[in-house]
Amino acid sequence: MWVRFAKESIIPEGTGRVKFFGGIPVMVLRSNGQLYAYVALCNHKYYVLCERAIKDGKILCPGHGEVFIATTGEPTQRMAKRSLIRLNHEVKDGFVYVELPPRDVIESIASESLVEGQA
Ligand code: FES
Repeated sequence: MWVRFAKESIIPEGTGRVKFFGGIPVMVLRSNGQLYAYVALCNHKYYVLCERAIKDGKILCPGHGEVFIATTGEPTQRMAKRSLIRLNHEVKDGFVYVELPPRDVIESIASESLVEGQA
């Protein structure tokens, strides 16, 4: 399912936004002139990534300090087990649209986060 995320103009270079859709946090950021969209959950202990934590092409997890590369979603500190889940996106008529992950992906994120919790 595609959702209208925000006006493209509110995401200048080096910044990002986080919004929730059906309980799923979605981040859209701009780095090196390109937009990237991710599920904004760190898969270490499932803290929600914060839009203010984007700096110098990296995303810092507020939980325990994992650092993700903004353009790939890859973790660099070996706490997160996997890269961020990347989402399809497109810009149309000045708005960014994001394709939410399939239901089975959302359910697997929810069940893992309930098992692992936040500590
Ligand atoms: S939850 Fe992200 S580093 Fe622990």
